[in-house]
Amino acid sequence: MPDMLVKLYELPEAAPLIRQLSEAGIVIRRALAPEKHIVKDWVRRTFNAHWESECDVAFARQPVSCFIATEGEKLVGFGCYEATCRDFFGPTGVDPAMRGKGVGKALLLACLQAMRDEGYGYAIIGGAGPTEFYAKTVGAVPIEGSSPGIYRGMLRQPQA
Ligand SMILES: CC(C)(COP(=O)(O)OP(=O)(O)OC[C@H]1O[C@@H](n2cnc3c(N)ncnc32)[C@H](O)[C@@H]1OP(=O)(O)O)[C@@H](O)C(=O)NCCC(=O)NCCS
Repeated sequence: MPDMLVKLYELPEAAPLIRQLSEAGIVIRRALAPEKHIVKDWVRRTFNAHWESECDVAFARQPVSCFIATEGEKLVGFGCYEATCRDFFGPTGVDPAMRGKGVGKALLLACLQAMRDEGYGYAIIGGAGPTEFYAKTVGAVPIEGSSPGIYRGMLRQPQA
């Protein structure tokens, strides 16, 4: 899983997709600190404990560097930035039942736009799983020799 580089100065606008999702009842917004336990619990149950840990860091920042997708009262996706490294996007994930509707792309664009607004010219997708998703949505390109990159030697669960 290589890291990937994204040009933030050529980022597609997030607003049209976010508006379209909103009309379909899906809200994309920055998470609130009081929601931390709900988001972390959902991320661990839906994905894994490593991503839960990264969410914890994102919620410790101000502004919180985690965007969420909600449908009614339900959390259906999340995206973090600047959790493990400065200028890194990730982790992110969408409820399996909600995929293919643009939620993942909207979360990605919202985070990258926030990073651009915070002063970055480029962003790095950390340990990109679905590289085609990132290439297609934001023109990301793999960084040569970046796997395992910063994650080399990382402790994995379960521990004895
Ligand atoms: C990757 C993920 C976040 C995408 O979310 P999603 O809501 O299904 O994606 P979207 O509907 O916004 O897709 C946007 C576009 O990317 C494409 N796309 C989505 N997932 C893709 C994939 N895995 N590979 C290639 N293209 C993909 C879609 O077809 C869509 O194309 P279109 O605009 O031509 O219709 C979601 O599949 C997921 O949660 N995966 C598991 C967790 C994960 O791998 N996270 C990334 C860790 S780096």
